Amino acid sequence: MSDPASELSELTSVEASIALRIATASEPDELSALANEVNGRGSVFVAARRQIGSLPPDERRQVGRAVHDAMKRLESLLIQRREELEASGEELRRRVERLDLTEVVPVRRRGHLHLVSQAQMELEDVFLGMGFVVAEGPEIETDWYNFEALNMPRDHPARGMFDTFYLRAGEPGSLMLRTHTSPVQVRLMESESPPISAVMPGVVHRRDTADARHTPTFHQIEGLVVDQGVTFADLAGTIEAFTGAYFGPSSRSRLRPSYFPFTEPSAEFEITCTICGGSGCRTCSGTGWIELGGCGLVDPAVFEAVGIDPEVWTGFAFGFGIDRCVQMRHGIADIRVLMENDLRFLEQF
Ligand code: PHE
Repeated sequence: MSDPASELSELTSVEASIALRIATASEPDELSALANEVNGRGSVFVAARRQIGSLPPDERRQVGRAVHDAMKRLESLLIQRREELEASGEELRRRVERLDLTEVVPVRRRGHLHLVSQAQMELEDVFLGMGFVVAEGPEIETDWYNFEALNMPRDHPARGMFDTFYLRAGEPGSLMLRTHTSPVQVRLMESESPPISAVMPGVVHRRDTADARHTPTFHQIEGLVVDQGVTFADLAGTIEAFTGAYFGPSSRSRLRPSYFPFTEPSAEFEITCTICGGSGCRTCSGTGWIELGGCGLVDPAVFEAVGIDPEVWTGFAFGFGIDRCVQMRHGIADIRVLMENDLRFLEQF
């Protein structure tokens, strides 16, 4: 090392060049190569340090310190840059791996609404188009809503129409799984003043034995119109309009006299069995007709129970099975498939 001053200035420029390359390195591998230039075999600093012993004693200390400090500075730059790269790699990984729940990937259909839900929405649409609103009520009901307010006091024989699942809660017999959607009528009439026109879809339960037309849990949609001067013809026309809209113009429907404690007069409505086309089969028990639900003009006793003046207001109500509608429209011989969650069946719709 002949000229320590020029030697030192060369080390300074090597340091500056390495420092610049450290600052701009984008890969950990680049940093390893640079670390080698600082203190590895080919390092000018290591070479300079080795020659210190041959310097005049008064220069040894100055050059030694300069080399040592330059190496220390570069080493700390290396550590700092390595940490920066690791942090940004981590950040990148986190960004790539983050689960984006807002992302919609339209590549493959992963499931769809159940056929019964689809039918419920379609039926709601038919009635919305006719000026009805949609309302809902609870699945667990009290005796008042499920029976009493619907003109079925305790021990009324008509309660036998509904084989009821009672809850082991509260007073015995006071709470139950609703057996029909008619309690929602009562809730609506209590909370709203007429005129009312609403449909009320939902799940209902009865202690029935399952067969080709029945399951203990099923879906109904209830309809209620309260206004002045409502007649049975309004009811019949509404049912005709809905069956035509849902089953198509070729389906035939009929009303037959019936009895419900909450309507007077009452009727059952039926459509031609779509399984056999009306000639009679197992599904329609050989009659050629399938009952969809019940209907009638609101009984004055119900109006009285909810505080609506039966001298002023009149109304009609109906309630029918959504599952039964699905069964008829799609020609499903056994309704139980709607509850079985067999993908081979569900995937067809
Ligand atoms: N709630 C009755 C049933 O489930 C159907 C019905 C509703 C009848 C409204 C008349 C009026 O069988």
